[in-house]
Amino acid sequence: MPVVECVGVTKHYEGMPPEVLALRGVDLAVEPGEMLAVMGPSGCGKSTLLHMLGGLDTPTSGEVTVLDRRIDQLSETQRARLRRGEIGFVFQFFNLVADLSVADNVELPMLLMGASSAEARTRRDELLTALAVDEHAKSSPRELSGGQQQRVAIARALVNRPALLLADEPTGNLDSAAAGEVLAVLREQAGEERSMVMVTHDPRVANVADRVAVMEDGVVADVLRPGEGEVIDLRLLSPIQVGSS
Ligand SMILES: Nc1ncnc2c1ncn2[C@@H]1O[C@H](COP(=O)(O)OP(=O)(O)O)[C@@H](O)[C@H]1O
Ligand SMILES: [Mg+2]
Repeated sequence: MPVVECVGVTKHYEGMPPEVLALRGVDLAVEPGEMLAVMGPSGCGKSTLLHMLGGLDTPTSGEVTVLDRRIDQLSETQRARLRRGEIGFVFQFFNLVADLSVADNVELPMLLMGASSAEARTRRDELLTALAVDEHAKSSPRELSGGQQQRVAIARALVNRPALLLADEPTGNLDSAAAGEVLAVLREQAGEERSMVMVTHDPRVANVADRVAVMEDGVVADVLRPGEGEVIDLRLLSPIQVGSS
């Protein structure tokens, strides 16, 4: 059974004209333990797709199933609970709470799930150590480098042991060395217990992902398996649409 599956998903942003058809029929399934990279030019619908997979937003039509639950049919409250317990999010700009310490940022989602403060502290320390930011536990996120902040954000995303980790351009705001470290940390997270979907422009991801979904104009135009020697056309991965007018 896939961890997350989309069938015929469309997303139509309404409101101010022109209306945007951001997704035009996406079919995609992510298997347990799999790491799927999503690549494609800016504006092709990658973030929108990730929001659908994680229940941050609902499709205009089509089905999204996460862990056997149709999230397009859940109430907002039910979706919020599913997100908190089963899905971890990592964003380009880290989205840490500036007024909380690093340690408190990491603990917070676990306390919100009803864990005891002792349990939350143990788990938090384990993750801060694993991600090599334990010496900054008492600092404000502001005092950390971008790469450190992103590792804290990853620790926070993992604290409730989510079955699915979603990352939207997690290295987009990092220099090359920090990006490499963050990619390595994320790659380690996909495994038996956890699947991952990562939106990225970083061509290095092609070396570590199990599959690469290439999006174009609201659809998944191609799915590649780099590990099986498929050659990836780097033009497809460019942040800027190549050859379009
Ligand atoms: N909240 C929104 N309201 C209206 N249009 C949006 C919204 N979010 C994204 N879009 C539009 O939907 C399309 C896909 O956007 P997005 O999913 O952010 O693409 P990507 O992440 O690949 O850059 C773009 O044309 C974008 O301008
Ligand atoms: Mg985006």
